[in-house]
Amino acid sequence: MHKKIQYAISGDLQPDELDRLLFAASNSTYSAQELACIISGSTAYVTARDSGSLVGFGRMLSDGAVLAYINNMAVSPDYQRQGIGQTILDMLIEVTGEVKSIFLYSYTADSLYVRNGFQPSEKRLYVRRRRIAVKRQPDSGA
Ligand SMILES: CC(C)(COP(=O)(O)OP(=O)(O)OC[C@H]1O[C@@H](n2cnc3c(N)ncnc32)[C@H](O)[C@@H]1OP(=O)(O)O)[C@@H](O)C(=O)NCCC(=O)NCCS
Repeated sequence: MHKKIQYAISGDLQPDELDRLLFAASNSTYSAQELACIISGSTAYVTARDSGSLVGFGRMLSDGAVLAYINNMAVSPDYQRQGIGQTILDMLIEVTGEVKSIFLYSYTADSLYVRNGFQPSEKRLYVRRRRIAVKRQPDSGA
């Protein structure tokens, strides 16, 4: 367990560091505008930092009463399986408060979520995607 990891709710977060983490953890790519909306439009997000570097993230959107959605759970590959994802999930659930249902979509860490009271849904997940490809910009190396 990394004792020095520092967690914050909706604290300082730059789009470029979030971009690097989401790409490293799950190959996810977002445009600059999408990253800005992820940061400003989420009800709350959790950051995990090691000596200032962003090593974990998760976010939540909620109507405050009926439903909430947890998304973009990501821990840097070098820091995975050390309890950081669990702490992020705990903080997101805590900050969500009393809603009837919290949804999340997982394609890997099912046991983590089942252990925390999430049940696979008997309903199918339907996704309507906008058909716009977002190309990742070449890394400037900055
Ligand atoms: C999923 C993720 C956020 C969990 O964060 P973490 O810090 O590794 O999680 P924790 O150490 O708190 O908990 C680990 C538990 O999560 C589950 N888990 C984590 N990564 C897993 C993986 N790749 N496959 C299966 N289970 C996984 C296991 O139950 C594990 O428990 P165990 O180590 O006792 O077996 C992180 O592994 C990650 O970023 N993975 C890649 C991106 C991804 O899959 N995101 C999830 C989209 S929903």
